[in-house]
Amino acid sequence: MSLDNVKAVVLAAGKGVRMKSDRPKVLHEILGRPVLDFVLRNLRLAGVSDVIVVVGHQAEKVKAAAKDCRFAEQTVQKGTGHALLAAEPLLKGFTGDIFVVAGDAPLIGPDTLRRLQEDHRAQKRDATFLSACLDDPTGYGRVVRDKSTGTFQRFAEETDATPEEKNIPECNSGTYLFKCPAIFEALRQVTPNNSKGELYLTDALGVLVGKGRPVDGVRSLNPTEIYGINSRRDLVAATNYIRWKILEYHMDNGVSVVDPSTTFIEEDVTIGQDTVVQPFSVIRRGVVIGKNCEVGPFTQLRAGTVLEDGAEVGNFVEVKKSRIGSHSKAKHLTYLGDATLGAHVNIGAGTITANYDGKNKNATIIGDHSHTGSNTVLVAPVKLGKNVTTGAGAVVVKGEIPDDSVLVGVPARPLPPKNGSSEKSKVSKKPLAKTGRKR
Ligand code: UD1
Ligand code: CA
Repeated sequence: MSLDNVKAVVLAAGKGVRMKSDRPKVLHEILGRPVLDFVLRNLRLAGVSDVIVVVGHQAEKVKAAAKDCRFAEQTVQKGTGHALLAAEPLLKGFTGDIFVVAGDAPLIGPDTLRRLQEDHRAQKRDATFLSACLDDPTGYGRVVRDKSTGTFQRFAEETDATPEEKNIPECNSGTYLFKCPAIFEALRQVTPNNSKGELYLTDALGVLVGKGRPVDGVRSLNPTEIYGINSRRDLVAATNYIRWKILEYHMDNGVSVVDPSTTFIEEDVTIGQDTVVQPFSVIRRGVVIGKNCEVGPFTQLRAGTVLEDGAEVGNFVEVKKSRIGSHSKAKHLTYLGDATLGAHVNIGAGTITANYDGKNKNATIIGDHSHTGSNTVLVAPVKLGKNVTTGAGAVVVKGEIPDDSVLVGVPARPLPPKNGSSEKSKVSKKPLAKTGRKR
C-alpha cells in the first residue's frame, strides 16, 4: 500500500567521524547489507515511493548504493538542517508531507513510520517527531517539554544541553514527518547558534513551536529501534538486534537454531522446515536451504549456495556458489566452490574443489551416488559421472570421469575392473609388521 502525498528525504551526507573509517558511515554493513539499505527498505515498505537521498561525503559511492532514489548534493556538511535545505529544490511546489530520516538509523521499521504518519495527519501537525525513553540517553538530542503541561518546547543537543537537560530520558530519534513547505520556512529562521556552529534541523521544530504551530512527538513502542549508528560499537548493537530478528523469523518457520548466540544468518536466506542449524554457523545473504537439512557446527555457507532437501554440511566445511543435491553430505573439513553435486553424494573428509587456477573460477560437477575419499582434490574444471569413487588422497586433474569409475592416486587414474589381473592381486598378503616394544 502506498502512502498518498508523502515523500522522503534521507540525510546521508555526513562523514561519520566517530566511525573512524574511510568508508562512509551509511555504507557499513549489518549482516551483509549496508545500513542505508535498511533505511531505504523501511521507507519503501511504509509505502513511500519518492525518496531523495542527501549525499556529500563520498557522494558517488553512496549514490551507487541507493537504487531508485533521487539525489541532492550537500557539498559541505554544515549540519542536519543545512542538509535538508539541500533537498528543497527537488521538492519545489510540493505541498504534502515529507519524512525526514537519518541514513544512520536502520532499525526504525515501516510500522513505526506508518504510526508516525497516522498520528501526524490525525493531529494536523506541522511537525511530528519520533522519540523514545532510553536508559542511557547519552549522545541523543533530549526532548524538552514544559514541566507543568508536558507540551513540547524544543530539543537540547547533547553538546549544548545543561546538566538538568541531560537527565531527560526522552530522546529524539532523528526521524520526523514535516509539512511542506512549512519546514523550509522554519529552517530559514534557524541560526548556527550552537557549540558545533552547525545548522541543526532540530532547532526548526523549536521555531515552529515559537510560531504557535502544532508540533509533538510520537513515542516509539520499542525504544531500541531508535538506535543510531555513530560508532563501531553501535554497529554491533544494531547487528545483534537484526540478527535476533532474523533468527526468530527462521525459528518461527520451523527451523531449529541450536545456539542462536553463535549463529549468524544474514538477510534474504531461505531455510526449509525441520532443518537444524548447529552452533557456530555463518549463512550468508541469499543462501537457499531445503527441508530436513543439517548445517554445522562450524560451517560457512557463502553466497550462491543451495542445499537441497536432506543435505548435510558439517564441521569446518565452507561452501561457495554451489548446489548440494538432496541427501548429499559433506561433513568434515571441506571446501566446495562453484560445484554442483547430485543426490546422495558423499564428500569424504578433507575433500577440496580446487576451483581457482589463478585466473578463472572453474566448475566441478559430481554425479548422483558418487563418493570421494578423504583428502581428495578435484582440480576444476572437472566432471565426475554417477557412482564414481575416488580413493584417499586422489588428485583428480580436470576432464570428464565416466559413470561407475574408481580413481586412485596422484594424478588420479582409474582402477581396472575387479576381476582379471587387477591391481588388487598385486597387493602383498603378508601381514603388516607389528608395532610396539620388542620383547
Ligand atoms: C541527530 C540529532 C539528534 C538525534 C540523533 C538521533 C541533530 C542536530 N541532532 O544527532 O537530536 O537524537 O540524530 O540519532 O539533528 N548529516 C548530513 N549532513 C550534515 C550533518 C549530518 O547529511 O551536515 C546526516 C548524517 O550523515 C547522518 C544524519 O544526518 O546520517 C544524522 O547526523 P549525525 O551527525 O549522526 O547526528 P547526531 O549527532 O546523531
Ligand atoms: Ca547519528
